[in-house]
Amino acid sequence: MTIWNLGSINVDNTYALHHIVAPGETIVASNLLTGLGGKGANMSVAMSRAGGKVVHIGAVGRDLDWPVARLAEYGVDTGFIATVDEATGHAIITVDRSGENAIIVYSGANNAVPLEVLKAALAEAKIGDRFVMQNETNNQAEAARLARAAGLWVAYAAAPFSAAAVEAVLPHIDFLILNEVEAAQLQEATGKAPQDLGVRDVIVTLGGDGAAWYGEDGVQKFPAIKVTPVDTTGAGDTVTGYIIAGLDNGLLMPEAINQAMKAGALMVMRHGTADVIPKLPEVQTFSV
Ligand code: RIB
Ligand code: NA
Repeated sequence: MTIWNLGSINVDNTYALHHIVAPGETIVASNLLTGLGGKGANMSVAMSRAGGKVVHIGAVGRDLDWPVARLAEYGVDTGFIATVDEATGHAIITVDRSGENAIIVYSGANNAVPLEVLKAALAEAKIGDRFVMQNETNNQAEAARLARAAGLWVAYAAAPFSAAAVEAVLPHIDFLILNEVEAAQLQEATGKAPQDLGVRDVIVTLGGDGAAWYGEDGVQKFPAIKVTPVDTTGAGDTVTGYIIAGLDNGLLMPEAINQAMKAGALMVMRHGTADVIPKLPEVQTFSV
């Protein structure tokens, strides 16, 4: 089926630092890498490289044309990306010597995705297609509602996390993925454990401890693959994209998660984001 991804498109500037900058401190970066990013674009690329047929829905500014060109080059359909009167989104990513990051996002055009563009995309979608969102574009709750009404399977990656944003989409989604910290925050806000949210499949990623899947048959845990990280940025997006595309390719959830864990492990060993997301054959043959 087609995977429709309503998502952000950013220019990522990744600075390699000894440590994450402290208030009042000035530090000199040892490297700068500029590439395609945004949680949305990262997921589109991951899903495409995992073998999915992906249409990206989003917005960019008139300032740059390479981010959309690059998405297209990576096999993503860019026909529903609007050009709007805002700057293309960007992110300032600092990565320390242990691979840990700190990120500043300027949303720009990502917050101005026209509702008509989303509606035009959904008008072309088929029942049973998949619809994916993160929390870096506007109109999420409305998008989830419309996608569900159009008969699509709806997935939400709750990043960057906002309890209010998750609560607004909860009634309209089939699949929720969030990390351990976010899961705790959501439980705090809703008073509900992952299995009680009313969402069919909930995945909680546990960093170095792997992931937990809360599905119809209870909870199942999956181990992480131990590697030495150089840059964890984009690894979560890669894992999410690989799980969704895996399911779309007919994998069972446990198979999709295990494959995604490998893709995530490869990703943390690489500097950069969308541009370096591994392709399926590489993931399938990867072992530590
Ligand atoms: O998850 C990583 C992403 O977060 C980066 O690509 C950056 O653009 C921000 O959206
Ligand atoms: Na990375």
